[in-house]
Amino acid sequence: MGAIITGTGIAVPDQVVTNQDLTRIMDTSDDWITSRTGVRERRFVEEGVGSAELGVQAAREAMAAAAIQPDQVDALVTATMTPDYLAPGISALVQHGLGLPAVAAFDLRQQCSGFLYALDLADSLIGSGRAETVVLVGTEVHGGFLPWGASFDVATGRANREATPAERERNTRFRSWSVLFGDGAGAMVMRRGGEQTGVLATSLHTDGGQFNLIHVPGVGFRRRPYVDHGQLDGELHLPIMDGAGLYRQAVRLMPEAVREVAKAVGVEVDEIDLVVAHQANDRILEGVRKQLGMTQEKVPSNIARYGNTTAATLPLLFHELRQAGKVKPGMLVCFTSFGAGAHWGAVLYREP
Ligand code: ACO
Repeated sequence: MGAIITGTGIAVPDQVVTNQDLTRIMDTSDDWITSRTGVRERRFVEEGVGSAELGVQAAREAMAAAAIQPDQVDALVTATMTPDYLAPGISALVQHGLGLPAVAAFDLRQQCSGFLYALDLADSLIGSGRAETVVLVGTEVHGGFLPWGASFDVATGRANREATPAERERNTRFRSWSVLFGDGAGAMVMRRGGEQTGVLATSLHTDGGQFNLIHVPGVGFRRRPYVDHGQLDGELHLPIMDGAGLYRQAVRLMPEAVREVAKAVGVEVDEIDLVVAHQANDRILEGVRKQLGMTQEKVPSNIARYGNTTAATLPLLFHELRQAGKVKPGMLVCFTSFGAGAHWGAVLYREP
């Protein structure tokens, strides 16, 4: 008996930054970003708003949709790569923000696969009888992660000036990954389901041998002190990404995980109605479609409007599809993702 999703909610900031806006702060073009990644625009919160606040907004909407009150929640799972503070984790802030009782609140750090792991954890808590109702949140505020400094305000139109040559040179150096990300949050409420509905099978994987595909080399407790000017001057607080390597692994391992969960429940891959896949790059999604022999209808995309929202992507896309009436009762939905770590996998779900 798998856990079912009884409510969903999202929170997306109002501030939109288009590819054209980015041309004001780096050497790039709408054509390059759109054709290589599928991203047309992304959204950013106001400075000072953190992932916890955005996550609380999404979770409130999900709880209202599920018609549950805070005192009915037994556990909280929050996935983020961009917590408000280095320590403690974000889930305590989300618990407090939602006014939940002092329930168990878990932090998940699986980056783009964070929400996939959250689905499995919530299903396990419910399946083992340790929780009746679990709130799951995926939330990201990537603005502080981007190396744009004061020129951020030039991109958003808040600063009425052009980027300086030095700002432009620096932003151009980091353009291959910085154009991909945007802010957003998504949430779900999960409860015990009926027979043959809800989470049917899960396949999660981790391979630390792929750590170097994308990682932040500095600002960690292996160093003493864990942060210093040398690390910042050396830009060790910014991610290093092997874009081609990520592409290759994501296109291979997401379809493999989808096949694993289909096999586990004894269905053919083409019986899956909808694949809700991590939105890192439209070309990766195109590769996944090709591997699975599926159309764009079956493996939909919203990356054009949000960019990569890391742990928020899966609940954000699922919410939009449900709102659009594309998730119908009885449908087989497969969630899948690949992300830094590397962590990847799939969760097969039947909509009640
Ligand atoms: N605008 C204009 N030109 C750019 C940009 C940009 N934003 N970024 C890179 N370029 C240039 C490069 O400098 C390079 O120029 P050169 O040939 O003169 O040296 C040229 O474009 C080609 O660069 P590549 O890196 O080879 O471009 P590629 O076609 O591989 O695309 C990309 C790069 C989009 C990052 C691609 O590799 C990719 O999407 N990989 C997957 C990455 C990903 O999914 N990341 C997700 C983040 S984390 C996660 O989800 C785990």
